[in-house]
Amino acid sequence: MNFDLKTLSLAAAAKSPSEVLIVLISDLFQAGKDPLSSLIEKALKAKDFSSKTGKVLQAYAAPGVSASKVVFLGVGAAKALDVKSAMAGLTASLRASETKKLTVVSAEPVSAQGLQALMLALAESTYVYGTTKSKPTLRSLSQVSLGLPKVNLELQNAFKATVGMVQGIEFAKEWANRPANHATPTMLAKAAVALAKSGAMSCEVLGPKEVAKLGMGSFMAVAQGSAEPLRFIVLKYQGAAKSEAPTVLVGKGITFDTGGISIKPAGEMDEMKFDMGGAASVLGVFKSLSTLKPKINVVGLIPTCENMPDGLAVKPGDVVTSMSGQTIEILNTDAEGRLILCDALTYAERFKPRAVIDIATLTGACVIALGAIRSGMFATEDQLAQSLLQAGDDAMDLCWRMPLDDDYADALKSNFADVANVGGRAGGAITAAKFLHRFTKKYPWAHLDIAGTAWKGGGSKGATGRPVGLLLHYLLSQQPSKSNASSKKAAQSVN
Ligand code: BES
Ligand code: MN
Ligand code: ZN
Repeated sequence: MNFDLKTLSLAAAAKSPSEVLIVLISDLFQAGKDPLSSLIEKALKAKDFSSKTGKVLQAYAAPGVSASKVVFLGVGAAKALDVKSAMAGLTASLRASETKKLTVVSAEPVSAQGLQALMLALAESTYVYGTTKSKPTLRSLSQVSLGLPKVNLELQNAFKATVGMVQGIEFAKEWANRPANHATPTMLAKAAVALAKSGAMSCEVLGPKEVAKLGMGSFMAVAQGSAEPLRFIVLKYQGAAKSEAPTVLVGKGITFDTGGISIKPAGEMDEMKFDMGGAASVLGVFKSLSTLKPKINVVGLIPTCENMPDGLAVKPGDVVTSMSGQTIEILNTDAEGRLILCDALTYAERFKPRAVIDIATLTGACVIALGAIRSGMFATEDQLAQSLLQAGDDAMDLCWRMPLDDDYADALKSNFADVANVGGRAGGAITAAKFLHRFTKKYPWAHLDIAGTAWKGGGSKGATGRPVGLLLHYLLSQQPSKSNASSKKAAQSVN
């Protein structure tokens, strides 16, 4: 989908040719002398419409208006959340109508946050998955023109960032939505290689031999029950000097999670094709980086394989040796995410990262704790936690900090290895994080448990593209800003 942003008054919007024109009406609305204003004034007077968030009034062939259909949409105080929920109300009609070209105009100024919310909601409400349909369904909407009374630099920057963000979110959705037989570890690796070719980045793919050589015994144990060979994907984006420490993102890439020998019940097991949502979000972020080209360095690591039951599969009680040298008693083969992540987290040490963030559909317990609204966030440093919370707020892709007290690690004690891969049911999201914590002692680390937020079930079953928005806002906030650079200089001259 293509977005463009321009300065547009209501008078000019009335004259601009478009199939559908959406006019945002906030509480601050003041009528001008244009045809749209006079229409809305009449409707307000007749109490057929108000600026309350989500109110809708539609008109066809309105006098003096070029668009064949006008939709007036109440956005209340025009805060980001108002815009988001108002637009969400139009989802069904936007999807049903086969509109190709849409213009959205606001008579009153919109904040950068409001503009982002508008663009995200438009993208979200018109996204369609079509890859594995016999007649591929394509989204009909191809062009969205956004018109605001004034377009300053801040709005222009927010616009550009959101265009890049939407590309990343949609890339993540696409890969997460694909069924497991259309998104094998090999296919994910090919997608990563293709992505790297299109932008300022490189990609290296390791197979079973290389992974064995690295000693990733924990990752290999999960993959050994599948006919699909594992892949370890290493993506590198370099936007800053080589000497700048990178942020490393690690995405869980289980392309299908049956549970292995500790097999899952049949109900809704199909949804375990989304168990590579973390990997998809890393690919999505790299997609965005390839367009936005921020001045930072980022490494993406994706351990990817299937978790299958088989004659060769790993068994409950088996002890394996991780790349770190720590031995692990695999008490439950369904706690496989942490087993592939721990080796990737050890691999991450070689980049001397400024921070490592892993993203994983890790535990059902996190879904119980936080539902589908906020992702679980664990961090070893307060500043990192604060930045991630802020990024989540800024992106409207929320997370919530969870604890990492050492006492939680007691549940992982084993009589036969250094650590067990499961604790009890109590605090399951936290004991999973504590397992990972053992492998992250050499750098600042955060873990995002996206089990509840990466996809929706039921009638609207599908990937959400989360937490691409959060991660991107975090990464962009790590760019050296002009004020940062000058304060660094000031500090240097004092020393
Ligand atoms: N991929 C699942 C986590 C999951 C479950 C995500 C349901 C979304 C919805 C993970 O591999 C898993 O199976 N975790 C187990 C861990 C348990 C065996 C300690 C779980 O949460 O039940
Ligand atoms: Mn599992
Ligand atoms: Zn899993």
